[in-house]
Amino acid sequence: MIKIAPSILSADFANLARDIQAVSSADCLHVDVMDGAFVPNITIGVPVVQSIRRCTGMFLDVHLMIDKPARYIEAFAKAGADLLSVHLEADHPARIAEALRIMGDCGVKKAVALRPITRAEAVLPYIQELDMVLVMTVEPGFGGQKFMEDQLDTIHQVRAIIDRHNPACELEVDGGIAPGTAPLVIEAGANVLVAGSAVYGADDIPGAIAALRGSHRRMR
Ligand code: DX5
Ligand code: ZN
Repeated sequence: MIKIAPSILSADFANLARDIQAVSSADCLHVDVMDGAFVPNITIGVPVVQSIRRCTGMFLDVHLMIDKPARYIEAFAKAGADLLSVHLEADHPARIAEALRIMGDCGVKKAVALRPITRAEAVLPYIQELDMVLVMTVEPGFGGQKFMEDQLDTIHQVRAIIDRHNPACELEVDGGIAPGTAPLVIEAGANVLVAGSAVYGADDIPGAIAALRGSHRRMR
């Protein structure tokens, strides 16, 4: 099943409750946390995740684009995240393993995220314990960027690793996902599609979510 995860980075932060309600037909809510160090942008922190948790029952998929994320796992879990993604480039392997261990202790689902420069094999040390792998299809930091077609190879490779080692693990893609690119990433093996501008920029938001979800059917 294809799942759609609208990214609230493209929402109006002064009307966040309204804009979260607008995507309630989606499968989960994608929350982009940026620290101004791992990426050149600053967005959402722990108190905002706490407020989001109070205003929706949607599954919260929290994408941590922060350095040394192990420091903040417990705080985001307590704030109400259902799943946390940490970037493999954000710390040493032992500290990434530690971040995943804390997620397990806190009872949140575990994901690792890959910048475009990172090879698919980098997930191998962690794959058996993951609930999701997130493959970036743009350089993390900003919404509204152009989809990087080169990343289709990485998606294919991560799909093969998942099928071999942990078939229950989900494969999420993030960046530049729109009606034109969704069929490509689905064909390459993704099953969770993050979309910011393609959802919030649409006149008919539920229609845009349904269209992205049905992208693979149009392909055949
Ligand atoms: C980018 C973020 C994305 C972003 C996607 O660093 O991780 O989640 O919101 O935005 P679009 O769908 O507009 O590319
Ligand atoms: Zn994201």
